[in-house]
Amino acid sequence: MIKAVIPVAGFGTRMLPASKSIPKEMITLLDKPLIQYVVEEAYAAGIRDVVFVTHSAKCSVENHFDTNFELEWQLEQKGKTQLLEAVRNTAPPSMRFSTVRQSKGLGLGHAVLCAKEVLGSDDVAILLPDVLIDMYECDLQKDNLASMLERFRLTGKSQIMVEKVGDSDIEKYGIADLGGKSPIGGNSVPVKAFVEKPPLEHAPSNLAVVGRYVLSKNIWRCLESTSAGSGGEIQLTDAIDSLLDSETVEAFYMTGKSHDCGNINGFIQTFLEYSLQNPKYGPLAKEAYKSLSN
Ligand code: G1P
Repeated sequence: MIKAVIPVAGFGTRMLPASKSIPKEMITLLDKPLIQYVVEEAYAAGIRDVVFVTHSAKCSVENHFDTNFELEWQLEQKGKTQLLEAVRNTAPPSMRFSTVRQSKGLGLGHAVLCAKEVLGSDDVAILLPDVLIDMYECDLQKDNLASMLERFRLTGKSQIMVEKVGDSDIEKYGIADLGGKSPIGGNSVPVKAFVEKPPLEHAPSNLAVVGRYVLSKNIWRCLESTSAGSGGEIQLTDAIDSLLDSETVEAFYMTGKSHDCGNINGFIQTFLEYSLQNPKYGPLAKEAYKSLSN
């Protein structure tokens, strides 16, 4: 099975001051940190190897998926079996984790390239941890990444998840040029070009790259020759655009919707939605919202 890269080295400036001394990926959505949702999404799609591209200030991300012997011992002594179970299950069974450091903040493309030393020149899935994909609708969430992996396995064509965004959001995302085609949910169409964070007037469409990629091994060569682009950083979007010179790349139009938790507005929206949908906390959340609106 293909291995996944999850880049977690960024400072999370859009979540400051919340992310000043804890990684933005460790901010809690209900009862678990954001990164756990993304790891569980990868697991549900069949991925069993995750490489975190990380930074010296982000050790808590690795620790969250490791054993905490002292804590487990204490919970065991006190007979807190449910908590013990929850603490032991932060890492899905048989999921393997490794880490590599990105020592300079040179951009997302550079972060992914740092993983080459542990992955070798293999096909790769990339999950950006700022974005959650309908985790409360488990089947949908499984369908998206699992469908991309399946289509890649059958066709060998790289798959990039896209979703429609409003005009005011276009300049925040990588945008796909599908030559005017409109894909339907759960299907893929060939891409003509990708542009990173274009101004609205130069955007080839309103289809934004969501943060889930399944890429052929040729991406490594493209990453190695990509120079700094938007924001002065080495952009993954530019490397994928240059991959198009040698092979077909497809845009996979997601089903359900994405939740951008990399900024406060998106996080608040996600928190509200997830708390209402959550089987355990939903009833409590509904009551709380009802009493507030009275
Ligand atoms: C990154 C990618 C961008 C993508 C976005 C999805 O941007 O560069 O192409 O659309 O993630 O969240 P960032 O959010 O890191 O600025």
